[in-house]
Amino acid sequence: LRDGPLLGVRVVVTAGPTREPIDPVRFITNRSSGKMGYALAAALAQMGAEVTLVSGPTALATPPGVNRIDVETAAQMLDATRAEAAGAQILIGAAAVADYRLHTPSAHKIKKKTDTLELSLVKNPDILCELRRAYPDLFIVGFAAETERLAEHARDKLARKQLDLIAANWVGEGRAFERDDNALHVFWNGGERELTQKPKADLARELAMLIAERFRSRTGA
Ligand code: PMT
Repeated sequence: LRDGPLLGVRVVVTAGPTREPIDPVRFITNRSSGKMGYALAAALAQMGAEVTLVSGPTALATPPGVNRIDVETAAQMLDATRAEAAGAQILIGAAAVADYRLHTPSAHKIKKKTDTLELSLVKNPDILCELRRAYPDLFIVGFAAETERLAEHARDKLARKQLDLIAANWVGEGRAFERDDNALHVFWNGGERELTQKPKADLARELAMLIAERFRSRTGA
């Protein structure tokens, strides 16, 4: 029997990296393992939420009780997230979405014919911004991965993307990406909380509790 502070609440979580094809055998990606997003999906499901995980390519097992949709590119992640968010109350963007994709991926394997190779990139749509536009009432939680001025950048993303909450982490030099532990500095309008370094499973439970708290206080439930 399911129980918990998010009983029956529908939550969509994005996790992992995206892959933007260069040609049929190569792609641009990043260091995200999916561990943070999967831990969050597991924690939310344990709190009674009905969780859909929209996942880029990872080596991870689907957490118990979680519905998982696999995607590769940012465009596919946007489409799947938009479809799943219809009827959801909360969206959490833990995925490391590629900001750029190839303007024109090559239909055939690029040959090693020249000493230099230039790739032309175009900006990907921002999934959280698109979803805010599509669903003004959705409770949207973003992440911020920063190598400098963490609080300033996180607060800027909170405002610019019209998020309800943002969880910021330091990245680079062996931090956050791929590791089994992490720390988060969480911001919302009128408040902030530091969640100290710990295993991602434990950190995810703390963040999920905070999300439930903020979600309830916004909806007045
Ligand atoms: O997967 P792990 O190895 O466990 O690592 C965890 C993590 C570091 C990937 C995770 O904790 C994290 O920080 N995820 C967000 C990474 C990121 O892309 O941050 P950003 O500051 O570039 O983006 C800000 C927010 O906008 C994020 O919620 C992101 O999902 C979202 N975004 C970004 C680009 C884009 N085109 N669409 C988006 O929705």
